[in-house]
Amino acid sequence: MISKALRKARDFEAKYGPHIPAGERPAFHATPTIGWMNDPNGFSVYKGEYHLFYQYHPYSNEWGPMHWGHVKTRDFIRWERLPAALAPDKPYDDAGGCFSGGAVELPDGRQLLLYTGVQRGHNPDGFIQDIQTQCIAIGDGMNYEKCLDNPVLEGKDLPEGGSPIDFRDPKIWREADGTYYAVIGNRTEDGSGAILLYRSRDAFNWEYVRTLDRCNNQYGKMWECPDFFPLDGKQVLLTSPQEMNPVGLEFHAGNGTVCLIGDYDPDGKGFTRQFVQAIDYGLDFYAPQTLLAPDGRRVMIAWMQNWATVGAKPYHCRWFGQMTLPRELSVKDGRLYQVPVRELDNYRGQCVIHQNIPVSGEINLPGVQGRMLDMTVTVRPIGTEAYRWFRIRVAKDGEHETIIRYRPSDGTLKIDRTRSGLPHDIVHTRSFFVRYQGGEIKLRVILDRFSLEVFVNDGEQAASSVIYTRQEANVISFEAGGSAMMDVEKYDLTFDE
Ligand code: FRU
Repeated sequence: MISKALRKARDFEAKYGPHIPAGERPAFHATPTIGWMNDPNGFSVYKGEYHLFYQYHPYSNEWGPMHWGHVKTRDFIRWERLPAALAPDKPYDDAGGCFSGGAVELPDGRQLLLYTGVQRGHNPDGFIQDIQTQCIAIGDGMNYEKCLDNPVLEGKDLPEGGSPIDFRDPKIWREADGTYYAVIGNRTEDGSGAILLYRSRDAFNWEYVRTLDRCNNQYGKMWECPDFFPLDGKQVLLTSPQEMNPVGLEFHAGNGTVCLIGDYDPDGKGFTRQFVQAIDYGLDFYAPQTLLAPDGRRVMIAWMQNWATVGAKPYHCRWFGQMTLPRELSVKDGRLYQVPVRELDNYRGQCVIHQNIPVSGEINLPGVQGRMLDMTVTVRPIGTEAYRWFRIRVAKDGEHETIIRYRPSDGTLKIDRTRSGLPHDIVHTRSFFVRYQGGEIKLRVILDRFSLEVFVNDGEQAASSVIYTRQEANVISFEAGGSAMMDVEKYDLTFDE
């Protein structure tokens, strides 16, 4: 039975979604059917396809009571829209709505969604204080029924000191032996976050296992949207903390993302953290979630936005929020690597290659322009003479430009979208350290109308940013302070829209 709230959302998106012309959206990054999108949810394999749900408020381009929007794909690039999957329509989720969660395919062929229901409560002073519990919906890849036993995890299932006010974002998976696990974010008695592990034999009845890691007020406060998986002989814990303090150029203030890499001993000590790093070094990246593809790849997608700047949007835009390009993950020498999914290569069209181009003043190259492309630029010094800096400008016209700047002397890469169609006084630049290789650097730049994603040195780092520059601004230029040598390999990305 479809509730009134879900029927209303489905009718609304079916009526108004098609009003948005394809050209006003990214071509291969997932966007909401209409209205607002935040976190990826339930990113998982179901019946041989990749499903992606998302935090969704169809009725405006602002956050509102949360629904789950729904798309699916066979190749991580072309997304098929499906009707909204969940709406806030039960006493346990009709305040904030259906918050983030995960999905899993059950052995009997049904799809199970595990999400956070946000229900209205009051604190001892009578103030509104919403309570968060974990709830289940079961479906067939299109329609879902909320479980009669909801909520399946609530305050009484928390370890001592855990807060039922901040208890959210379950990520569920099934182990080879058939046991289900879920990691869930929680706030502890010291006011900062922790990641809790729960276990279930049947995916419906859950028990607390252990606390995997705690923030201890070191990396922000509340830890949202966890994910936990083995990769290349290590164990990875991803989380998105709120209220981070800046740490050098590694972590910026506010909502951030943290990757903890370590070892996992499920029967003994649990998770032992060894390395800590940011996940993405750009301006717009939050709440990543991964899936394990049938071919063994660990693929991550994230919300390509930043909570602090969601107020900066084009006036009256009919959709807001988009996902990153899905990325293949690996771990090498204690660091997380990420590269665009290889399926992107299938959409490469015209190729232009320029090799050994000396750059000093600003230059353009024949055939190198556009707003939907996959371009790799390799820069190196000429002989023993160091260059001071190197700039790539994209999405450029007389008025606009988005700049990627490398400065070998201090080892920083900077993304600058000051002139990228967002006339708001928000954070527009982000700098971060890259590994020094004698002045050589390799940058893979992916553009898709309203975004820029940069992958540094074959995936050592990634930096993502949203831009709103008009599409006619498609010039690309290169410039060096001093002289540098450059190779460029550029592919147009082509889609039938
Ligand atoms: C993170 C988050 C989640 C929550 C959701 C609500 O971006 O705050 O913790 O489930 O957004 O939309």
